[in-house]
Amino acid sequence: MTLEVTDLHVNYATAKVLHGVDLTIGDGESVGLLGRNGMGKTTLVRAICGLRPPTVAAGSIVFDGVDLLHRTSFQISHAGIALVPQGRRVFGSLTTTENLTVVPRRKSPAMGELWTVERVFEFFPRLAERSKSMARLLSGGEQQMLAIGRALMTNPRLLIMDEPSEGLAPSVLDVIQDRLVELRASGLSILIAEQNVDLALDIATRVVVIDDSGTIAWSGSSEALRSDSVALERHLSI
Ligand SMILES: Nc1ncnc2c1ncn2[C@@H]1O[C@H](COP(=O)(O)OP(=O)(O)OP(=O)(O)O)[C@@H](O)[C@H]1O
Ligand SMILES: [Mg+2]
Repeated sequence: MTLEVTDLHVNYATAKVLHGVDLTIGDGESVGLLGRNGMGKTTLVRAICGLRPPTVAAGSIVFDGVDLLHRTSFQISHAGIALVPQGRRVFGSLTTTENLTVVPRRKSPAMGELWTVERVFEFFPRLAERSKSMARLLSGGEQQMLAIGRALMTNPRLLIMDEPSEGLAPSVLDVIQDRLVELRASGLSILIAEQNVDLALDIATRVVVIDDSGTIAWSGSSEALRSDSVALERHLSI
């Protein structure tokens, strides 16, 4: 799979947010999308996934040679892009198991075997213990595991996660981080938007940083960013 975002301009009714973003994700690559609060990470992720608002004003989004602009979010999911949305957005009045089984599923896995409820429960044993609980009764960490599991159930070729670390205690974050490293090692392509730079640099091999110009202000390897104190300070205030 390859995702190619070229010169993307994205707006809300009241604001122009992205002013020409270029981003390529190659097969099996894990890319971190960094940027301070409000710089447009969620805006970019929603545009890629066909969620509205925002509106794409110009540019192109091509996935495996297919133009994704003007496709519905359902078609984009079917093409193999899964989103773990910011704030998790699990279906609160459904059980854990129901959350995993309501999603439309692609029948061709990116690699290895298809994801099943059993496989998600092996991947996150905590979810197996909560299988019959309403999702709204789960802890934040359990809901994040469920949101990731739900995305995996679509058998994606590209997994996009929008701030999976948000609001999580360090102990549960460690569990999720280990699982994400495992997913990366399996060869799944990943885009992870994060304010938690340490997490993003651990998961991603390459990072792009959006700044207040609404464009990619910095890009390079995770290693390079880790040792670039000037870029960290300028773009991420670290
Ligand atoms: N529905 C909306 N209508 C109008 N403006 C919006 C809307 N959603 C976001 N924005 C604005 O777009 C800009 C980018 O927001 P976005 O949510 O993409 O940032 P972000 O990088 O994901 O931030 P965070 O790290 O806080 O999640 C911000 O100025 C925000 O106020
Ligand atoms: Mg966001």
